[in-house]
Amino acid sequence: MTEHAWTNVDEYLNERLVENDPALQAALADSAAAGMPAIAVAPNQGKLLNLLARLSDARRILEVGTLGGYSAIWLARALPTGGRLITLELNPLHAQVAEKNLARAGVRDKVEIRVGPALETLARLASEKQAPFDLSFIDADKQNNAAYFDRALAMSRRGSLIIVDNVVRQGGVTDGRTADPAIVGTRKLFDRLSQEPRVDATAIQTVGVKGWDGLAIALVIGDA
Ligand code: SAH
Ligand code: DHB
Ligand code: MG
Repeated sequence: MTEHAWTNVDEYLNERLVENDPALQAALADSAAAGMPAIAVAPNQGKLLNLLARLSDARRILEVGTLGGYSAIWLARALPTGGRLITLELNPLHAQVAEKNLARAGVRDKVEIRVGPALETLARLASEKQAPFDLSFIDADKQNNAAYFDRALAMSRRGSLIIVDNVVRQGGVTDGRTADPAIVGTRKLFDRLSQEPRVDATAIQTVGVKGWDGLAIALVIGDA
């Protein structure tokens, strides 16, 4: 199996099942034009996030890692009237592009973009004592994955979902001797997931336009 075949299959699936309206297309085009890396979730992955958010009746969603707002559009579109997505981004340029992309997609009023290092923003969010998040999507700098998980968990309730992107990294996750901070951080996340009694989790490998990777999904089963 080659990456080329995976891409063909993704195209086949996306053509049949996944919306690709002008706002989503423009979000990717404008992100590329702004010089951002092409690392947004794939269309069928964005749709998966959207379906999971709807399945869990999410009214409050947390995203760590906005980039150009592509995954944020998918998540925000799952929200009911009055629902809210808070998305955290380090790079103010990314946040600016995301803001325009979210506006064009018609969801700007549902989304709050907070600019700064996510660890700091998460600490501030926790101190605000808002209602818990129904779903969290962690997709920023991978070396902080375990810390992001802990902070998302602290702001979750029983029944919340926590989803983490890019947990396989072309199989790199099994390399216990690597110095790659992204892999080290992801392995720390799996240690946390396996030891945390408040969650029940799985992870699946994925192939497609983004190569060989995977995502972890944790269901919060205990109260804080
Ligand atoms: N979720 C997006 C992709 C996010 S890419 C999508 O699928 O469409 C990862 C993003 O995390 C980048 O925009 C990067 O600038 C941001 N990031 C990296 N380190 C960060 C940090 N410490 N705090 C917040 N955001 C960070
Ligand atoms: C990278 C980050 C992502 O969020 C992703 O989905 C793919 C790749 C990266 O930093 O290489
Ligand atoms: Mg990602």
